[in-house]
Amino acid sequence: MARYTRRATAEQVSAGIDLSGTNALVTGANTGLGMETTRVLALRGANVTMACRDLDKAERARRSILDTAGGRIDASQLDLLELDLNSLARTRESAREFTRRGRPLHLLINNAGIMIPMERRTADGFEAHFGINHLAHFLFTNLLVDSLRAAGRARVVVLASAAMDMATLTPALQDLNWEQRKFNGFRSYGDSKLMNLMFAREFNRRHGKSGIVANALHPGVIATELARDQSLPFVLMGMFALPFMKSVPQGAATTVYVATSPDYQTRGGLYFSDCREKKPLHKLALDDAVCRAVWERSCELTAVET
Ligand SMILES: NC(=O)c1ccc[n+]([C@@H]2O[C@H](COP(=O)([O-])OP(=O)(O)OC[C@H]3O[C@@H](n4cnc5c(N)ncnc54)[C@H](OP(=O)(O)O)[C@@H]3O)[C@@H](O)[C@H]2O)c1
Repeated sequence: MARYTRRATAEQVSAGIDLSGTNALVTGANTGLGMETTRVLALRGANVTMACRDLDKAERARRSILDTAGGRIDASQLDLLELDLNSLARTRESAREFTRRGRPLHLLINNAGIMIPMERRTADGFEAHFGINHLAHFLFTNLLVDSLRAAGRARVVVLASAAMDMATLTPALQDLNWEQRKFNGFRSYGDSKLMNLMFAREFNRRHGKSGIVANALHPGVIATELARDQSLPFVLMGMFALPFMKSVPQGAATTVYVATSPDYQTRGGLYFSDCREKKPLHKLALDDAVCRAVWERSCELTAVET
């Protein structure tokens, strides 16, 4: 099993891996970690669908990846899919559109996410972290199961976060939608990231044996656009922390490692940080009964049958 330092980049951890004939889909591929993940998977030969809410931004990102690749990525390797996780109906439509394209899906990277200080609701009335980071990805992934099955062997890689440590989730799943408490952006972000990890574990329990494994990870702390809605003091604090943060190529390393390492083609239900298996920080993360309860509640809220 290869060992990498926390400074390893996505290119370094995938050196020598040939992804020709592999189809990948990355959510939130137009910037930050998703864009770097897209670039490196394509560099290794994969066809990558960039699933983004703004197709103009997505096309600019696609062009920039192609322009800087020096001919090592063919334009036909990158295509776009409109995906707005702010609406379950639109998320369903995107999954339908991908399925219509008839492409087996070997790698699904659930990367898109928000981290906002203010209370915001999705088109369906869900608290935005819960709705976008967790519920819409839950729906999208479940609607893509046939495409994942068609690949024979497939991997789902879920971007969680060490911020799950701030989660307020209770075993009884009280007030998941933040209607009865004073809102706290970091805590609700933490809840959504804990649910991302729980989703990966439960998805893996259900599908791992039939060849679709799911793993979750913390990418590190990276200066991306994730903090774009945060307060000035938060941003200033972040600037002081810059020397200790990872670069974007380093931040995408764990995602690319978990997506491409031969060690994890058939192993799932795990959590990673710095390209290593880690024990998750939150005590509920490994509670199978709560993982199942989150899954069942998510089925009810998204009207998905699994
Ligand atoms: N950066 C970190 O330090 C860090 C640490 C731990 C975990 N993470 C996780 O890593 C993942 C990637 O984050 P990042 O740092 O690369 O952030 P980023 O630069 O802000 O990228 C986030 C991506 O998500 C997309 N997105 C946001 N809302 C969406 C929606 N409603 N529908 C579809 N796409 C949407 C964004 O699209 P637009 O550009 O159109 O908004 C963007 O492409 C996130 O899940 C985040 O929680 C990041």
